[in-house]
Amino acid sequence: MSPTNPAADLAERTAEAGARPAAGAIDLEGEAQTSARARPGSATEEVVVLDYGGQYSQLIARRVRECGVFSELLPHHVGVAEVMGRHPKGIILSGGPASVYEQGAPRLRRELLDLGIPVLGICYGMQLLARELGGRVEGADVGEFGRSQLTVAQPGRLLAGTPAQQTCWMSHRDTIYSSPPGFSALAASTASPVAAFESVERGVYGIQFHPEVVHTPYGQQVLTNFLADVCGCERSWSPSSVIEEQVARIRVQVGEGRAICGLSGGVDSSVAALLVHRAIGDRLTCVFVDHGLMRKNEGAQVIAAFADNFHVPLVAVDASERFLARLKGITDPEEKRKRIGAEFIRVFEEEAAKLEDVSFLVQGTLYSDVIESGGGTGAATIKSHHNVGGLPDDLKFELVEPLRALFKDEVRAVGAELGLPERLVWRQPFPGPGLAIRIVGGEATRERLEILREADAILQDEIRKAGLYRELWQSFCVLPDIRAVGVQGDSRTYGHVIAIRAVTSDDAMTADWARLPYDLLERIASRMTGEIRAVGRVVLDITSKPPGTIEWE
Ligand code: XMP
Repeated sequence: MSPTNPAADLAERTAEAGARPAAGAIDLEGEAQTSARARPGSATEEVVVLDYGGQYSQLIARRVRECGVFSELLPHHVGVAEVMGRHPKGIILSGGPASVYEQGAPRLRRELLDLGIPVLGICYGMQLLARELGGRVEGADVGEFGRSQLTVAQPGRLLAGTPAQQTCWMSHRDTIYSSPPGFSALAASTASPVAAFESVERGVYGIQFHPEVVHTPYGQQVLTNFLADVCGCERSWSPSSVIEEQVARIRVQVGEGRAICGLSGGVDSSVAALLVHRAIGDRLTCVFVDHGLMRKNEGAQVIAAFADNFHVPLVAVDASERFLARLKGITDPEEKRKRIGAEFIRVFEEEAAKLEDVSFLVQGTLYSDVIESGGGTGAATIKSHHNVGGLPDDLKFELVEPLRALFKDEVRAVGAELGLPERLVWRQPFPGPGLAIRIVGGEATRERLEILREADAILQDEIRKAGLYRELWQSFCVLPDIRAVGVQGDSRTYGHVIAIRAVTSDDAMTADWARLPYDLLERIASRMTGEIRAVGRVVLDITSKPPGTIEWE
C-alpha cells in the first residue's frame, strides 16, 4: 500500500505527519515562536543545512539525524555569525530551484568556506560551489530527472565504500562540466560529466545527485562518509538523548513556577506533557477537554494514560453538553469549526482560571511547524499557526515547547522511551473539531455521533487487526446526512449510510486513497450493518487529494 504517485513515493520516508489543520482549527499541537528554544545545547554536535529552497531540504536534516548527528535547517541567507553560533561540525548546502547564473539567484556566502568547517553541496549547492570556486556550470539542453546511473571514477573520501556503478536520483537541468581547479572529479552520470567532486584540502565536497531520497541506495553511506569521516562527528545523537537535556532546560525555564498543558490525546501534546511532568512533577496540570466529539473510549484512554498510569495531575472536563448545545442546528462546516473553537477557548480559560499561579503553557510545537513558520533563526518573520485551540494572545502565559527541535517520528521515539502507551504513540492524526466535521451536511446530534462512533470503532478494530493501522495516514468513517433503502430479514429498512475513508499520505498536503483488501472491506461492511441497527449501507471513498480533501467537510 505504498503511495503510487512518484512524488509521494520519493518522499515516502519523510512522514512528518504534520497535518496542517484548517484555519480556526483546534489543534493543541501548533503555534510557532521565534526562538529555537528547544534546541539541544551546544554540547550536542550539529550539522547545519542551509536551505536553498529544495524540495527535499527537510529530508536532508532528517537523514543527518538518522546518522546520529543533530541537524537543523536554516534559510540560506542567514549570516555567518548565526551559523557559527551553532558551532557546527559541518555545513550542507541544499538543492534549490534556481539557476546559479540567473539574476537574483540565491548566492553562497563565500565566508562560509573560510571557517575551517567542511562543506557539502548537494545539487544546486554543488553548482554554487562549482561556480564560486572556478568550475564550469552551464544549462544543458536535456535535464536529468529521476533515476540515473552513476559511474565512480575514484571514490575519494565522499564516495568511499560505494560501488563503481550505482543508481542515484537526479533532479537538475544545469550541469557541471568541469570541477574547480584543485578539485578531484569523483564520478559522472549519464548527463552530468561531473556528478561528484571533492577537495580534501579545502574541505569542500559536492554531489549532483540527492543522497537524501530513498532512490539513491548509497545516499546514506555518502552522508555518513561526510559526517563521520570528513566532519569527524561521533554520531551519538538520538531523539531520546533529547529527554535529559529538555528536562534540564524546562527546569531552568519554569523554575519554581507552575504550568498548564492542554491534552488533546494526540502524540505531540502527550509527549510534551510527559517531558514537562518529568521536569517539574506535579507543578504541571494537564487539562483534557472532552467536547463529546471524540472517538469511542478515547477520553477514557487519555485519562487512564495520564492520571492513572503516569499520575500526572489532570483536570478532565466533560463539556459535551456545552458543545452539543453550541452545535444545535448548525450544519455549515466552517460554522461548526468556529463554534467548537470558541467554546474550547472558553472551557480552557475557565479551567486555567481555577488553577493558581500558573504562568507557563506547554505546547507540542514540532520542528516542522518551526520551519513552516520560517523560524529557527530567531531573525525571520514568523507567521504563527494560530490554531492552538485558537488560544488568544492575551492568555498571559509563557510558552514551554520541548519538542521544537524534533520531527514527528522523533517525537514518537521520545514518547515510546517515556513509556507512552503504543496506542497514543502511534495515533493517526485526528482533527480538533472531532467527529462533528464527519457528520456531513447535518447537525452533530448525540444520536448521530453515537452511530458514527460505533462505525468508527469497527473500522479501527478491523484495520488494526489487519495490521494496517500504521501504514495509513488516516482511516475513519463519515456519516452523510442521507438515508438509503435496504432490506434486512424480510423488512424494508431506511438506514444511515457510512462512508469509509482511508488514505496514505506523507504530510496531509496530498493523499492517495488506500487500496484496502476486498475481504477486509467486506468484513467491515458486514459488521457495520450487522452490529449497528441504524446503518443500512456502507460505501468506500476512492477520491485522492487533490481533487478531494482528506476530510469531507
Ligand atoms: P483536509 O481535509 O484539509 O485535511 O485534507 C488535512 C489534515 O488536517 C486535518 N484537519 C483538521 N485538523 N482541525 C484540525 O485540527 C480541523 O478543523 C481540521 N480539518 C482537517 C485532517 O484530519 C487531515 O489530517
